Amino acid sequence: MQLPNRLKTPPFIQKLQWIADPINYMENAVQQYPDLFTAEIVGFGNTIVLVNHPQGIQEILNSDRNNFIAISEANQFLRPVVGDYSILMMEREQHRRRRQFLIPAFHGEKMRIYGELICDLTEQVLSQLPQGKPFSAHTAMRDISLQVILKAVLGLSEGERYQKLRHLIPQMLLSVFQSSLTSTLLFFPFLQYELGGWSPWARFVHQRQEIGELIYTEITERRKKSNLSGFDILSLLISSKDTSGEGMTDFELRDELITLIIAGSESTATAMAWGLYWAYQQPRVREKIIEEIDDLNNFLDPISIFKLPYLTVFCNESLRIHPITPFTFPRQVQETTQLLGHTLEAGTIVQGCIYLLHQREDLYPEAKHFRPERFLEREFSLYEFLPFGGGSRRCIGETLAVFEMKLVLATILSRYQLELADKQPEKLKRRGPTLGPENGVKMIITGRR
Ligand code: HEM
Repeated sequence: MQLPNRLKTPPFIQKLQWIADPINYMENAVQQYPDLFTAEIVGFGNTIVLVNHPQGIQEILNSDRNNFIAISEANQFLRPVVGDYSILMMEREQHRRRRQFLIPAFHGEKMRIYGELICDLTEQVLSQLPQGKPFSAHTAMRDISLQVILKAVLGLSEGERYQKLRHLIPQMLLSVFQSSLTSTLLFFPFLQYELGGWSPWARFVHQRQEIGELIYTEITERRKKSNLSGFDILSLLISSKDTSGEGMTDFELRDELITLIIAGSESTATAMAWGLYWAYQQPRVREKIIEEIDDLNNFLDPISIFKLPYLTVFCNESLRIHPITPFTFPRQVQETTQLLGHTLEAGTIVQGCIYLLHQREDLYPEAKHFRPERFLEREFSLYEFLPFGGGSRRCIGETLAVFEMKLVLATILSRYQLELADKQPEKLKRRGPTLGPENGVKMIITGRR
């Protein structure tokens, strides 16, 4: 197959470079070919054209139900985690129908009811951290985001099942996403053996099964209730029907709920950890956010916080410089076409490269510098700023994620005094499909405000 701007490094070496140091891999490649290049990186046999030019990304996303079809092939490595019936495993008509089920449950109005819960949970988690001793901000943010998502998705905030899930989900995620080495288990199926129950893969399989059973039991009990008055996503999904009057089966519900819990908790936790990192790395920026919050004169209702302009551009800049996922979903070319002056044959796989798009000097001068003001000075189009992807696979949890990020950061900054425990800059590290802080953003609480 004819492919544009192929890198000279042999494919197997490219895969290893990607697993060991994805940032270095992408930054070296873009030096050779600035707008788009062909990469050999995910799993086996996957050759992908990575595009970081906004016009190229626009053409792909505008046509992703016609000539650039969003396909699930490159997500297959996530199948053991999210299950066969997850939206991540679907494409075309089946995928469109599943989104119709899910999107209403994430409507902005519905998310607002979680405002006070988010602020209370933040206070609860922070107040339990030791003063004067280093803690991992990433771990603390995971604790908050997991509790928020268990409430939003399953309606759970107490009881034995809740406690078990709160304990098991982070363990399962650590089993596979903790390091480049453990993530390799997902990328290379030949490493997925159980060794009589003793291997890391066996531990993961066992945890995944336990989580699946707990959620399945919750679904079965909820179905028996005649009055599904809860605001949680499970209640809404159980009572939803598609246009032919069909609802979701228990297996579909189980895999979708696990998908939402995993997609929603880890990504938001990582975004908040980076937010804390930048707020405490840049005292001038932090002071501006605190001033803006203080100007609310204790009228700290969640919606007023959500609308704060400087907090908004601060979160944008944090998601720009450290996007949580490096790529959009893969799209497959249906008929031979031209993209940015290159011929792409039918069957070619293309992906928007969010990381490299956000690093473009022509869009973001001095791109390595953290400067929220750039979002006040000009507006960026949907194809220039892409932390939540776009087109038919755009993130469905965006409203909840941004709402949570702003409320958690505002609560911490306005009530606590903290400092970074480590003076060295925090580096990006790949954790499964996401990019997280290598050392977890170590911080110290020095007092209350
Ligand atoms: C800061 C936090 C988050 C970030 C940065 C993020 C980012 C993304 C990105 C880049 C995509 C792929 C979009 C594309 O290919 O065009 C995506 C998809 C998705 N996200 Fe998020 N996400 C976040 C939070 C959430 C939350 C809170 C949930 C749910 C509770 C969620 C659920 C999903 C799902 C289900 C998809 C797949 C959509 C589909 O296949 O149609 N995400 N997200």
